[in-house]
Amino acid sequence: MQTGILLCSSKHRSISLRSIGNLHNHLQGRRSSSPRHQSTCLRPLSYGEVPTDDIKALVQKYAHQPQTPISLRTLMRTGRGELLNKTYKDNYLSCNKTSATEKVLMQVAGFLRRELPIRLAHRIQDLDKVPLMRDMPSVKEVKQTYISSLFDLLDTPVIDTPEKELEFSHVLRGLYSKHSGVLMQMAKGAFELRAELQKGTIKQRFLNPNYYGRRMSHHQYDPNASAEFDQMRETHEFLNRFYMSRIGIRIFAGQYLALREPPVDGWVGLIYDKVSPETIVRQAAEDATVICNRKYGDAPDVEVSGRLDLTFPYLPDHLHYILLELIKNSMRATMDWHGPDCLDYPPVKVIIADGKENEDVVIKVSDEGGGIPRSNIHKIWSYLFTTADPTTQERMIAYSSNDHSTESPLAGLGYGLPISRSYARYFGGDLDIMSMEGYGTDAFFHLSRLGDSREAIPL
Ligand SMILES: Nc1ncnc2c1ncn2[C@@H]1O[C@H](COP(=O)(O)OP(=O)(O)OP(=O)(O)O)[C@@H](O)[C@H]1O
Ligand SMILES: [Mg+2]
Repeated sequence: MQTGILLCSSKHRSISLRSIGNLHNHLQGRRSSSPRHQSTCLRPLSYGEVPTDDIKALVQKYAHQPQTPISLRTLMRTGRGELLNKTYKDNYLSCNKTSATEKVLMQVAGFLRRELPIRLAHRIQDLDKVPLMRDMPSVKEVKQTYISSLFDLLDTPVIDTPEKELEFSHVLRGLYSKHSGVLMQMAKGAFELRAELQKGTIKQRFLNPNYYGRRMSHHQYDPNASAEFDQMRETHEFLNRFYMSRIGIRIFAGQYLALREPPVDGWVGLIYDKVSPETIVRQAAEDATVICNRKYGDAPDVEVSGRLDLTFPYLPDHLHYILLELIKNSMRATMDWHGPDCLDYPPVKVIIADGKENEDVVIKVSDEGGGIPRSNIHKIWSYLFTTADPTTQERMIAYSSNDHSTESPLAGLGYGLPISRSYARYFGGDLDIMSMEGYGTDAFFHLSRLGDSREAIPL
C-alpha cells in the first residue's frame, strides 16, 4: 500500500506528516514516530492526495472497535479522582491535590485519546452509508471535518507525562472549537437534501421502501410519488444518531477542558452537584421572555410549581437548553393563538415533580396555545419541520447561526424539539409531547435522577 508522501508545499488543508507516517502503523496495529516520517523536506498531504483506500481502512479499523458508554455518575467520580489508583485517590481526598489532579487529567485525556477516534470513526462510517444525505455538499464537509479530527487525534502521542497531557488539551481545544459549527453544517446538509427532493425528481421507487416510517408519517409507500424529507425515516434515524453522538463527544471534551480550569465549589467540570430545576426554569423563562418580547412586544408569564426545593447532580446547560426550547415553543403558541389584542395571555405553567421512590424527575411545560393539529403531530420530531416563517429558516441556514442565546429567533429552524429529545435521552431521560388541538400542549420532560444510566450512544 502506498502512503504517497509528496514533495514541496501545499495550500490545502493538510494531514500532518506524523499522521501519514503513522497511517501504516495504525493499520498494522502499532504506533511509531519514526524520524523518517518527520523529515522536513516532505510536505504534508492534503486529503485529496491521501489514497482513499488508506483512509477507509483506517476508519474501518477504529469503527470496528466498540464505543465505551459512560454514566453521569462515572463522569463525576472520575472528575473527583475517585477512580484513580489508591495512592492518588488518597492524595486527592486528603491534602496535596496537585499531583492527583494531574493524574486525573492524564487519566481523562488518556481515555479521550482512545475513545474519541473510535466514536469519530463510527460516525464517519455512518456518514458514508446514509443514502442521498451523503451526497450533499455540506454533509461532505462535515465528513471531512470528522476525518481531519480523527487524524489530529491519532497524531497525538501517548499521554504518559503532564506535558503530553497539556499538548493533548491544546489539540482538543482546537477540535472543540472547530466542531462548534457542525450542528448547523449538518442542518444545512438536511436543507440541501430537502431542496433536492422538492424538485420532485427523486421518486420513492428509487429508495428502499424502509426509508418511509409509518410511525412518523402514516405514510403509504407509493413508488411513483416524489420522496418527501419529513417522511424519510432512515435519514431521520441517521440524524438522530449523528446528533446524539455529537452530544456525547462534546460532553466528554467539554468536561475534560472544564476540569482543567480552577475548581469551583460544587462543580465537577460541567456537572453541578446541586442543580435546582426551579432556578434553571426561571433562567430559561427569563431568556425566552426576552426573545418573545423582541418578536411580539409582549410575553406570557411563566408560573413554576411543584418540588421547588429539589436539587440533584446534573449538567445545568443541558437542562437549560431543553427548558428554553420548550418555553419558547409554548410562548410562541400562546401569542399566536390568542392574537395581538389579547389583554391577558394565559401563563405557561411549569410543574416539577419528584418523589422519594421516583426513578425520574419529571418537568411538565403546559400552555394554552391552541395545541398542534393532528396532521402535524407526527412531524414535530422531524428535523427542519417548522410552522414558522420559512424565510427565518433560510436565513438561519444561510448564516449558519449556531446561536443558542437570546439573540436567536423564537422559532425558525425546526430543530428545537428533536435536538431537545436527544439531550433528554442522552443520559436516560425522555421528552414527550401531548397536544389537545383547540386548547394547548403539554411537554413532559423526564430526567433520570439516579445518574446511573449510561449514555445512549448510537452504534
Ligand atoms: N407548545 C406548542 N404548541 C403548538 N405548536 C407547537 C408547540 N411546540 C412545538 N410546536 C410545533 O412544532 C413545530 C416544531 O417545533 P420545534 O421546536 O422543533 O421547531 P421550531 O420551534 O419551529 O423552530 P426552532 O428550531 O427555533 O425551535 C413548531 O414549528 C410548531 O409548529
Ligand atoms: Mg422551537
